[in-house]
Amino acid sequence: MRDISLARMIDLTRIADPRGNLTFLQNGSAELPFDIRRVFYIYDVPAGATRGGHAHYRGEELLVAISGSFDVLLDDSATKKRFTLNRPYQALYIPAGLWREMDNFSSGSVCLTLSSEPYSEDDYIRDYDEYCKYQLS
Ligand code: TYD
Repeated sequence: MRDISLARMIDLTRIADPRGNLTFLQNGSAELPFDIRRVFYIYDVPAGATRGGHAHYRGEELLVAISGSFDVLLDDSATKKRFTLNRPYQALYIPAGLWREMDNFSSGSVCLTLSSEPYSEDDYIRDYDEYCKYQLS
């Protein structure tokens, strides 16, 4: 059973500057729970759309609302928890094995995802019933 309590918000380094703020992530820093092996981002999300709808066997992820806001609904098949991401200096850590959906994307929002794994469809569980069975295994 992969437990939802392992998910958490992480405060990233924020270098405040009158010229504009700056946040960085680099492998090896204490705030990163894993080494980054892949980056992708979701943008131009139409109003009302839902993304995600899957779990990963191995992949750990950090999600950041680089611009705008969206919600992430996490589910371990026993408990659900909703996080609102709306700060470029905060990341949601999603350990392996949690079901996730993203919705409530604001206009112009961008969801940056940092992953511990290269892309592999073999790492996805895309069927919720199958996920619930996996959680019982
Ligand atoms: P999908 O998993 O449906 O996106 P999300 O869960 O974020 O809503 O991915 C959409 C498509 O993009 C799907 O065909 C797989 C492909 N894809 C890649 O080729 N590489 C990647 O790193 C990711 C995340 C997706």
